[in-house]
Amino acid sequence: MELKDKVVIVTGGAGGIGRALCTRFAAEGAKGVVVADLEGTDIDTVAKALGDQAMPVATDVSNEADVQRLVVQTEERFGPVDLFCSNAGVGGGGGIESPDDDWDRTFRINLMAHVYAARAVVPSMVARGEGYLLNTASAAGLLANLGNAQYTVTKHAAVALAEFLAITYGDQGVKVSCLCPQGVRTPMLLGGLDADDPSAAMVLKSGNLIDPEDVADSVVQGLRDERFLILPHPEVAEFYRRKADDPDRWIKGMRRIQAQL
Ligand SMILES: NC(=O)c1ccc[n+]([C@@H]2O[C@H](COP(=O)([O-])OP(=O)(O)OC[C@H]3O[C@@H](n4cnc5c(N)ncnc54)[C@H](O)[C@@H]3O)[C@@H](O)[C@H]2O)c1
Repeated sequence: MELKDKVVIVTGGAGGIGRALCTRFAAEGAKGVVVADLEGTDIDTVAKALGDQAMPVATDVSNEADVQRLVVQTEERFGPVDLFCSNAGVGGGGGIESPDDDWDRTFRINLMAHVYAARAVVPSMVARGEGYLLNTASAAGLLANLGNAQYTVTKHAAVALAEFLAITYGDQGVKVSCLCPQGVRTPMLLGGLDADDPSAAMVLKSGNLIDPEDVADSVVQGLRDERFLILPHPEVAEFYRRKADDPDRWIKGMRRIQAQL
């Protein structure tokens, strides 16, 4: 998919990766860029900087009615949604002892928001015979984020959902990409490092930190190639292969890294 003249929604659009996606999609000539994020975030600033082709919409992606309203408002202003980037996410997390409320919240934002997005746009995409979903998961959805059970589990679920959508709707014209970065310099990761969060330290240890603009470059290329897995850190593909080749060896290696944290 080329972005020129397309109508695009980006959730988490006021934050690190989402903001970079909005800016890049506008530069690629998108007809409409909808900057969706929580009330009180920088949605107005981001949209204003992009001009008339952008629209801010306050949205809580963990609330299905909000996601439905986001799509209706987008269609009213710009027409049918060509690309829905379900990108908003939360880190947080801990181990199995974390309270159920934390698990529920993480599941609603990191997984159910992708279900709500698909419910809101897939029927009309199928009717038109075209459309694209970009779901931001994480390398933690293919491997593991040590010390962070909720993040690891919900991001694995997000990858699984993206795979399900690609298989189920691909023959009806709906394309799906799943974005799985490792460390990216955004408020989510830098905030975790500032707070001495061991799962953020693990991300730092496991590879290069890149900028949100680098992720946007990979996304534009990945959409152009219509690739299912978009991996801004190419080494993740090799880690994923090694894990699949020998899961027991992989788990032993992860234990060794965990012991050093
Ligand atoms: N930064 C990294 O190292 C990294 C690595 C892999 C994957 N990711 C994923 O990339 C995505 C973007 O994260 P980021 O690093 O840009 O973080 P970020 O914290 O800078 O941005 C996330 C944005 O999501 C928004 N958001 C959170 N809850 C929301 C909700 N309920 N409704 C609407 N918006 C909500 C936040 O307000 C924020 O603007 C997330 O899904 C994250 O899990 C990030």
